[in-house]
Amino acid sequence: MKARIAPSILSADFGHLAEGIAMCIEGGADQIHLDVMDGRFVPNITFGEKVIGTVRKLTSLPLDVHMMVREPEKYFESFAGAGANGMTIHAEVAPHLQRQLTRIRELGCRAGAAVNPGTSLVAVREAVMDLDLLLVMTVNPGFGGQAFIPASLDKVGRARRMLDEFKSNAQLEVDGGISRHTIHDVWRAGADTFVAGNAIFTADDPKSEISALRMLCLVSA
Ligand code: DX5
Ligand code: ZN
Repeated sequence: MKARIAPSILSADFGHLAEGIAMCIEGGADQIHLDVMDGRFVPNITFGEKVIGTVRKLTSLPLDVHMMVREPEKYFESFAGAGANGMTIHAEVAPHLQRQLTRIRELGCRAGAAVNPGTSLVAVREAVMDLDLLLVMTVNPGFGGQAFIPASLDKVGRARRMLDEFKSNAQLEVDGGISRHTIHDVWRAGADTFVAGNAIFTADDPKSEISALRMLCLVSA
């Protein structure tokens, strides 16, 4: 299993977004994570279709769009049209989860479901076969730079066992507080895809931080 690193551009300097994306490419990022927030599902507001389209023009890397929005289905067509490769919706605001995931796949995108720290994995269990990605939030969403919630480790382990039980090949992604201090344990718990914002963009050498994080998944200690 390869560890995938997904830099979150939430922590990038938006005045120099092109340089930030170029850094991710040169550093060997596996996908770019874009945090869409609506000020309703989460307290913060970020960006939408326009920035997804801007990033699309800057890279051919997969664009992993994390939709922290209510009524996410309103945006599926426009985000897919702007160049999203994957869209992850939150189980907390997806009463018709199976239908919504199916629609994302119909649009040619990878379908993801996310669970907040306080949300049980049971919320996605019946839709596992409709998932290409399961996102276990390791902070409460809304802001970059928050501390990793330690109880998440056990939850990631349970998420891995659930995917294995269904023989699912879905990516198991974690998001929030991933850094040199936390990534190894989360990898050991069973995650394979790691979103990192602050850890990469505030590093002394952001480009080499991407491979440094990935390497920490390989060491056996
Ligand atoms: C949080 C976002 C994250 C955020 C992670 O609500 O979903 O993707 O950018 O930032 P760090 O890695 O700084 O915790
Ligand atoms: Zn995110």
